[in-house]
Amino acid sequence: MVIIWILLVVLLIAAIAALVYWLVVITEGVYLGRRAVVWMYDITAHKYDGIKEFDASAEQFFVIKPYLKHLPRHPAPRLLDVATGTGRVPYYLFDEPTFNGKVVGVDASWKMLALAVEKLRGYNGRFLPIQQVADKLPFPDNAFHGITCLESLEFFPSDEKALREMVRVLQPGGSLMVTRRTGWEAKTFVGRFHSPAAFEAMLTNLGLVDVKTLPWQLDYDQVMARKPLISQPPTEHP
Ligand SMILES: C[S@@+](CC[C@H](N)C(=O)[O-])C[C@H]1O[C@@H](n2cnc3c(N)ncnc32)[C@H](O)[C@@H]1O
Repeated sequence: MVIIWILLVVLLIAAIAALVYWLVVITEGVYLGRRAVVWMYDITAHKYDGIKEFDASAEQFFVIKPYLKHLPRHPAPRLLDVATGTGRVPYYLFDEPTFNGKVVGVDASWKMLALAVEKLRGYNGRFLPIQQVADKLPFPDNAFHGITCLESLEFFPSDEKALREMVRVLQPGGSLMVTRRTGWEAKTFVGRFHSPAAFEAMLTNLGLVDVKTLPWQLDYDQVMARKPLISQPPTEHP
């Protein structure tokens, strides 16, 4: 009898530990609300770059070059990086000599943004940090030639709402590059996981065209899309 009780207690402790690990480590607080997610990024910001170990040549080859190829031609494009974190996208963009544009970096965590500002100090006036949540972008319609949002959509309260905002502020003809979480952990994002087809359909329903999913990292696909030059007429409902 005592053994059964000990087993039950051990099982209960294991279940609680697994739940906490899922809530805090795998899903990074998304089921606890936006404040929890942002707070976790605030308190771990100083460790972020060390954990990610970005490799400059891989970033150039797998992120910057494909994105610049997809971007409409412009001598000095205005770009928006949503959930810019510690400035990964602007940092490697500015490292690319053919890129003469500016980047606005939006993030809800001021500690992540502070590290981005520090990292991008040398690129005077080309990076504008804004502390803001992704589903209320403080920009007029059609403001940017291109928008990126890497490794973040799954942590927003609503990825669809944030994507809708990105589409709104993207110029007709402009280019969007986002990521879709993949792998076994992605499937534990209950009610938030999208298959490749479902994710592409969501972007298409938001009015984007040329939606393409490319395998990228172990945990993420890269998804490119474009805002049509002529807006799609709204769907007629009978
Ligand atoms: C995994 S990091 C990705 C950062 C960067 N894009 C990169 O690839 O390194 C996720 C980022 O999303 C930000 N974030 C989380 N929820 C947000 C929200 N609702 N609005 C804006 N940013 C948010 C976090 O503060 C964090 O900087």
